[in-house]
Amino acid sequence: MSITFHNNIVHIKNSAISYVMEVVDRKYLVNRYFGKSIRKYRLSGIPHYFKRGYNTEHDCSIENVSFDDFPFEYPVRGFGDYRIPALTVKQENGIEFIRPIFKSWKILSEKPQLDGLPSTFAGNSKVETLEILCEDKQAGLQIFLYYSIFDEKGIITRHQKIVNIGTQTLKLQNVQSVSLELPAQDYDFLSLFGTHAKEANINRFPIHHGIQKIESVRGSSSPQHQPFFALMSPQTTENNGEVYGFHLVYSGNFMAQVEKDQFGSIRAQIGLNKDEFCWTLSDGQSFTTPEAILNYSCNGLNGMSQNFHWLYQHHLMPEKFANKTRPILLNSWESMYYDVSLEKIDKQSTIAKQLGIELFVLDDGWFRKGNDSYSSMGDWICNENKLPGGIENVAKLIHNKGMQFGLWFEPEAISEDSNLYRTHPEWTLQVPGYELTKGRHEYLLDLSREDVQKFLIETLDSYLKDGLIDYIKWDMNRPLTDVNSLEIDCVRKGEVSHRYILGLYNVLDTITKKYPKVLIEGCSSGGARFDPGMLYYVPQNWTSDNTDAFDRVQIQFGYSLLYPPIAMGAHVSITPNHQTGRTTSLNTRYQVARLFNLGYELDLTKCTEKEQSEIAQQIAQHKIARDWLLTANLYRNQSPNENYAIWSVVSDDKSQFEVIIFQKFHNPLFSHDKFKLCGLNSDFDYMNVDDKSVFGGDELMQVGLTVPLIREDFHAFSLKFVKI
Ligand code: GLA
Repeated sequence: MSITFHNNIVHIKNSAISYVMEVVDRKYLVNRYFGKSIRKYRLSGIPHYFKRGYNTEHDCSIENVSFDDFPFEYPVRGFGDYRIPALTVKQENGIEFIRPIFKSWKILSEKPQLDGLPSTFAGNSKVETLEILCEDKQAGLQIFLYYSIFDEKGIITRHQKIVNIGTQTLKLQNVQSVSLELPAQDYDFLSLFGTHAKEANINRFPIHHGIQKIESVRGSSSPQHQPFFALMSPQTTENNGEVYGFHLVYSGNFMAQVEKDQFGSIRAQIGLNKDEFCWTLSDGQSFTTPEAILNYSCNGLNGMSQNFHWLYQHHLMPEKFANKTRPILLNSWESMYYDVSLEKIDKQSTIAKQLGIELFVLDDGWFRKGNDSYSSMGDWICNENKLPGGIENVAKLIHNKGMQFGLWFEPEAISEDSNLYRTHPEWTLQVPGYELTKGRHEYLLDLSREDVQKFLIETLDSYLKDGLIDYIKWDMNRPLTDVNSLEIDCVRKGEVSHRYILGLYNVLDTITKKYPKVLIEGCSSGGARFDPGMLYYVPQNWTSDNTDAFDRVQIQFGYSLLYPPIAMGAHVSITPNHQTGRTTSLNTRYQVARLFNLGYELDLTKCTEKEQSEIAQQIAQHKIARDWLLTANLYRNQSPNENYAIWSVVSDDKSQFEVIIFQKFHNPLFSHDKFKLCGLNSDFDYMNVDDKSVFGGDELMQVGLTVPLIREDFHAFSLKFVKI
């Protein structure tokens, strides 16, 4: 890894990637290259400029240069570049105009952490950072651009710090976390779209001239669009081809856009959503953008995923949990819903313990007045009619059985029917004079307020301080509306949604620092706020409220583009499934969940003896496998057709692997279909542990295996191989 300067060029590189910028005329910072590592950059690939009509002229040593297609590294609008800007600032005179020029650059020998925001960290790796300063003296504005590179993998992290060094008050109207120029060629755009209970669907289409955009204005990153997109060549597959991935370490409103200009060149950006944002920067103040991850792979989508998985497991999620197997849990939601009772908990947890389950999670219902979602949110007082002796008693009951105890909270929500709302109606997000909007019968607390943050910290603290709780499910079940804080003055109204997220991060930061051993699972009606920002505080996320195994294959497949299996919770639930009515075998449900953080979410008292013993076997098998799964790499194998989804996990030293093939429908037409393995060592020979057949790694990756044809709709088939 190195950051080197040569004349006006800076070259950031490691063995996987190079990122090159040039300062033209000591003024203009431009991007020259991002991609596979090169030894040295000597100004190849510069566009041919010639005199064009209907254009602008510039004080630049490059003859006939047009700013209309100049590859500005951090572009602004107003003097000849008409494409999407990365930064828009309104000066006190009301004019939206700045013209920053390059000032200096320097190397920092560490990975900077961002003020009040989650960000990746160096951990066991070495990281170097380039800091570039650009300045607009007239406006009194400094822009610090940050580029961090790790000693391995195709990752560059980016963020900006904007500082007001003048005397006027500035308004930041748009400040993106990264802007990247890519050369004119054909690209496909790929993103993950969805909705509640059907998250992370793959959306891939060819980029056309003009702007293509995805976003969230819902206050959370949302199930509608993951704050991620990838650009790749149209030929890119799971294992071959170039991919550029962009992901934002942030949990609120975002936008991600790509502009293909008249010449086919690309400008790609990701950052805060400018439509919901306006930040007042008084003299002396600074603003830090969320961190963006740039990911380059020349080994297809799997290569991109391997980079993200490595980064998120070892350089983003809480270090304490990165290499720690997670407890197998039983969650009460789908077996009890709101109607929880000590008797049910006792019976179910007794069986759970016998089957080998390690953690009992009491989900929603424990604090509610009734058995619905209309009341009590915000009070967080256990309903002792349901649970005599309160949470303390439940925790003791579970602990006495030798299991861990987990509890559900939705800290950000407040019911109209709650003492908290009656005492502090001013604590909700609200617009004076207008009726509040409910979502799932609840309002949202105004987390931009310090008193609300303090209240949440104290509430959680009161439950955690006695060590009775080993796990928290941190839920958040509605998007933001009425986005206004009674406390924030008129000038700063455009800051509320970002301040909400900063407030949330402050609460999470305080709680996770004080209770580092408590495992927190993020949830937002499933995957509505599953993003790298949350992952910094909570090492796993409930991926979807849809527990149907068939749908879960698609959902986990989609999320696997970005997140390692250890970041996802996956449960075996009852059949027919509560969301889809689909019936699936117990084995298939287990196969879908077993590579992830395994849990069960069904009424164990209703399982037959045969089912209970099958569950006990699954758990015993998982306990043996989970240690090596923790350090194994997950690959998506290129499926021969849409009837299959195929995953494999390969140990880090490539000495063993497992592959799971999901067949959607029984179809005799597919009896000749093959799939190729990936991520193996070509020189190793591997033996199938069941039938003892032996194949070379090269043979498995080049020739492949024939998909087994099973006479059953939706069936999972798994194979295990070890090196001989
Ligand atoms: C959300 C979660 C579920 C469950 C319910 C409880 O929908 O995603 O898993 O916890 O809330 O109300």
